[in-house]
Amino acid sequence: MFGSKTHSLQQRAQKVLPLGVNSNFRFWGEDITPYVEKAKGGYLWDVDGKKYIDYRMAFGPIILGHACDEVDQKVIEEIQKGTLFAMTGELEVEVAEMIVEMAPAVEMVRFACSGTEATMHAIRVARAYTGRDLILKFEGNYHGFHDHTLWSTYAPVEAYGNRRNPIPVPSSSGIPKAMRELIITLPFNDFEGFQRVMRSYGEQIAAVISEPCQGNCAAINPQEGFLELIRAKTEECGSVFILDEVKTGFRIANGGAQEYYRIKPDLATYAKALGNGYPVAAFGGKREIMSIIGHGVAQGGTYTNNKPGIAGAYATLSLLKSKPVLKTIEQRGQRLMNGLKEIFEDNGLQVAFTGYPAMFSFSFGVDSVTCQRDWAESNHALYLALTERAIQRGVMPDHDAREPWFLCYEHSDADIDETLNVYAEIVKEVK
Ligand SMILES: Cc1ncc(COP(=O)(O)O)c(C=O)c1O
Repeated sequence: MFGSKTHSLQQRAQKVLPLGVNSNFRFWGEDITPYVEKAKGGYLWDVDGKKYIDYRMAFGPIILGHACDEVDQKVIEEIQKGTLFAMTGELEVEVAEMIVEMAPAVEMVRFACSGTEATMHAIRVARAYTGRDLILKFEGNYHGFHDHTLWSTYAPVEAYGNRRNPIPVPSSSGIPKAMRELIITLPFNDFEGFQRVMRSYGEQIAAVISEPCQGNCAAINPQEGFLELIRAKTEECGSVFILDEVKTGFRIANGGAQEYYRIKPDLATYAKALGNGYPVAAFGGKREIMSIIGHGVAQGGTYTNNKPGIAGAYATLSLLKSKPVLKTIEQRGQRLMNGLKEIFEDNGLQVAFTGYPAMFSFSFGVDSVTCQRDWAESNHALYLALTERAIQRGVMPDHDAREPWFLCYEHSDADIDETLNVYAEIVKEVK
């Protein structure tokens, strides 16, 4: 699928990096793992110099476009004054103020460097606040690499047991068995199961953590009333509702899923689009809960206010506020979704679209998908056959059907047209 330089770099990389990459998700397989030279706007170039329309957007962070000049200029200006002080500066206070202004449920925030850290800290705070240990998460949701929630994320769904009594499955060796006692898993959108579990265990549950949509499983949308049910039941049981907005935050609306669904979680977590690719994350929420930090509750990190990340967030949020970024992405993304749907349906393919114009997915051979168990029944071989052909023709969604297509402000109407032309051609080859 890729050229000779890619193959030789992969061989070199495999000698010094496990699988030849620095995150398991970047390994697509022997001889089909891409290696990247550079990116600009909506495009990516591999090390062989081939250009792609990029729909991975680094798994979501790139909301304005790769190497956005305005963001980079602000970062350069700031890092020339020093990159790290392990003391507090004005810019991070301003970014915190911007998040509080934009995210309806956030009254106070703390920064971190990655989504993994943000969810890990939010879970610590929720446990400290409630004095409870149990965490409830949904199958197919991913909240980062820590042991607390790396359960039932991407295992084969057969291992999850019966949906009435799901088995939490660790997504890695090395997660202590004892952690199993601290986690409950359920299918997403399972109204009945969620009510049953909250009736039985609600008062022992520290936090219910959920992505608003399944951003790590085909962007499966919440069914109407599901997020509201989580809100109501957690409130009733005194559990903390953590909305993991690492993928939806500053992407599906300036105020994220909270604004989109008019839902107020107790805590929310952010990373990705917050910094347009710079290393910055945040968690925040109700003042009453966040205020316990520092009063017997530990949270920190040497790099939590690193200047590149904070300056990246400052410039990104400023542009989201001053330009019609998400509106433009929504219009182009909708056109792309509609165009793809038409192509698939005209070619007699049964397909279900999920997600939002700024991050969407499609699953073949099914009418609808409401949870990872449904998604597992869709035709992944067809998705993959199309994806591999698209990549050969210079259109790059992620190889993995669970990973949504992401758009950025720089994707042009011409890019959408080109993508639709490519899919109209390749769909005929794989039918
Ligand atoms: C919803 C969600 N939460 C948390 C994470 C972890 O974020 P990071 O990769 O920055 O550690 C991700 C990453 O994809 C995510 O999608």
